Order: sequence, then C-alpha cells, then structure tokens
Amino acid sequence: MQIYKVGGAVRDRLLGKPVTDIDWVVVGATSEEMLAKGFRPVGADFPVFLHPKSGEEYALARTERKSGRGYGGFTFHASPEVTLEEDLIRRDLTINAMAEDDQQNLTDPYHGRRDLEARLLRHVSPAFAEDPLRVLRVARFAARYAALGFTVAPETMALMRQLSESGELQALTAERSWKEISRALMEDQPQVFIEVLRACDALKVLMPEVDALFGVPQPEAHHPEIDTGLHTLSVLEQSALHKQPLTVRWACLLHDLGKGLTPEEDWPRHIAHEHKGLQLIKAVNERFKAPKDCQELALLVGEYHTHGHRALELKPSTLLELLQSFDVYRRPQRFEEFIAACEMDARGRKGLEQRNYPQADYLRGAATAARSVAVQPLLEKGFKGPELGEAIKRERLKALKAYKEAASV
Ligand code: CTP
Repeated sequence: MQIYKVGGAVRDRLLGKPVTDIDWVVVGATSEEMLAKGFRPVGADFPVFLHPKSGEEYALARTERKSGRGYGGFTFHASPEVTLEEDLIRRDLTINAMAEDDQQNLTDPYHGRRDLEARLLRHVSPAFAEDPLRVLRVARFAARYAALGFTVAPETMALMRQLSESGELQALTAERSWKEISRALMEDQPQVFIEVLRACDALKVLMPEVDALFGVPQPEAHHPEIDTGLHTLSVLEQSALHKQPLTVRWACLLHDLGKGLTPEEDWPRHIAHEHKGLQLIKAVNERFKAPKDCQELALLVGEYHTHGHRALELKPSTLLELLQSFDVYRRPQRFEEFIAACEMDARGRKGLEQRNYPQADYLRGAATAARSVAVQPLLEKGFKGPELGEAIKRERLKALKAYKEAASV
C-alpha cells in the first residue's frame, strides 16, 4: 500500500500556513489490511480509518457517485485498484486535490499548485456539483484566503450559480450548513463569505432575509454607505477586525433584517425595524439550528441595538428595562457581547470606523450601578416574594438615576 498526505495539509504547507490536521489517503489496500494493521474504522461501512496512535484519518482511495439528493445520496467505491488520480478528481477544488508522499513529492494531476500561485479557487471537475455543500465551502475558502488575493474562478462561479438555481442547496442539512457558516464567520474576512454567496445567487436561497438588504437605502446622515446590505457587510468586517466571538458575529449579520421589510414608500427611514426583524431573525436561527447562545444574542441585538446607540439619552427607567431584559445580574457576559455588537454596528459605517463609542462604557457603568444594589438589607427590612422583587427594582432605579446624574456632570 502507498500512503499520501492529501487535501488541506498539502495546500496549507505550500501556502506557508500552519497545518492543523492531516488527512491521509491509502492506495492499494483493503479494509481487512487496514484492520490487521490496527487501524480503527470510523463508521460501519465507510472506508475511513483512524490511525491507532496519532488518531489521524486514513481513507482508502475511492470513487464516488451521486445517487440522490442531499448528502445521503452517495454511492462510493473503494478498492485496491482505485488510483490516486481517481481519488483526487472527485474532490472539490484543485488546491485541495494535491497529494504528497513521505518524501514531499507532489502528485498534482489537476494543477492545484498553478492555481495556488494564480490565487484561484477552481473546481477540479464537474463532479464538484455532486455535493452542494461545496458552494458554501468555496465561499468559506474565499473568506479565509481573501487577504492572500484569492478569488473564485469564473467557471467555478458559474457552476456554483447553477447549483444555487437547481434547488440542491435546500437539500443540505442544517448541521452541515451551520458548520460551514460558523467556520466562515470566524475567518478574518467573513464579509467575503457573504459576498461570494451573493455573487453566485446562493445567498437568496440560504438567507433570503440577508439578501433582501441589498438595494435598501438608509438615511445618509447616519449611514454614509447608504445601502443596508453594504452596511451589514461592514459590520461583519468590523466584528472580525475586533476579534469578536461567533455569537457577536452572528448577531452582527442579522441585526438589521427588519430593514428588508420596510415598504419602499417609507425609505430611507425604517420605523420599528428592530421589532419587525425579530420574526426574520428567528427564522434564520431555526433554519440553521444555530446554537442557543447565538440565537439568543442575535434576537436581543436585533431588538435592542438602537437602545444601545441611544444609551446616553435613555431615561433611567428605560435603562433599567434594558438591563432587566438582558438579565445582566446573572448573565454579565451576554450584556458585554450585546455592547460589542452595538459598537461593531456603529463602526460598520463608511468613514466612521474609527469613531469612539462612548455608549459602551456608559452601558457597562449602568450595569455595574444596577448590580451594586444589595439584596441583604431589603431582606432584613422584611421584604419577601413579589414585594422583594419590586423593592430591588426600586433600588436599582434609584442607583441608575444617581449614575445618570453623576455621568452628566
Ligand atoms: N473534500 C471535498 N468535498 C467536500 C469536503 C471535503 O472534496 N465537501 C475534500 C477536499 O479535498 C478537502 C479534503 O476532502 O481538502 C478534506 O476536507 P476537510 O478536512 O473538510 O477540509 P480541508 O481542505 O482540510 O480544509 P480545512 O482547512 O477547512 O479543514
């Protein structure tokens, strides 16, 4: 049997990037031989094994053919006769279809190295279309390697467009899609992921609510970039520049969905877009089964981001309601993430990226003031049950009034 390093490990070594996990392909072997060498099978009937010591994945060279819609619809054929070239041709991109032996000799029948140098994401063969997830993968690689100057080859873009129009994207499971989306959002230029999906018409299939924001104007006085879609991309870009976690990036992407519902005659104003957007945010959250913390933050940011921007003008009672909605007493981290998303929203405006956001510290101070109310003295005064709740609220309101007064001196 011959063993080769394949896929991302070869690509990233040639790019001079750190290699995290290594995939191997084994040519000229049977499952029985692998088991005899101590490899552990990954699934009952899939020709992939884990190395007994390193735990890395070793796959028997295989060919694949699509036999139905979605990911389950695959038949594969693994046998010692399958060649390395046959295994590589079923892969997604030329830059992912190179193999390397233990002497670092490159097998590159589909010119991945040339495309690496040309900074091109290009599909290997028409078999690309057999897995619609690859549309998201290409967009994710475009986001990852944008800083290196990579773009999607026009013929690959055309194929991605065909896949988007074919209805195949709807057959993807929420889990597979979310895995790509969440990884793409954590790249350095997540806005490129959305741009590429939009360019191949996949965005209007996967997230029509986000796609609808392009072409929707906002008032130029607050939003020099005007277009809501472009604003959303900038907010996402800021979230990556400021190294925000996934929860914040997801909330940034979805915060303005309500603006897509504004009737044209009301443009460029978007009255009550925060509230109107909630049903759309919920729909996108559920479509991809986003994790609970992402879902929650996206909804809260959608509903309250304007409160965040107007923090310094809010009445103490409104501030208190905001803090209560976030349960800042038990969930301080979530409120921090809300503040971060608001700040990214403010910075995601053309020409205003560097502007200070004093609202952030003001909101933090308000949370500290409300949290400083001690419960013990109220218990000692004999408050219990709902009355105790009311008394705590009164004290917090007092603390916020004092905080606001002190801050305005
Ligand atoms: N692959 C593919 N089509 C897919 C998934 C994977 O062709 N839908 C192939 C590619 O050759 C890829 C390899 O399997 O390089 C390994 O896949 P994976 O580990 O998902 O990706 P990597 O290329 O290693 O990239 P990453 O750095 O994102 O993990």
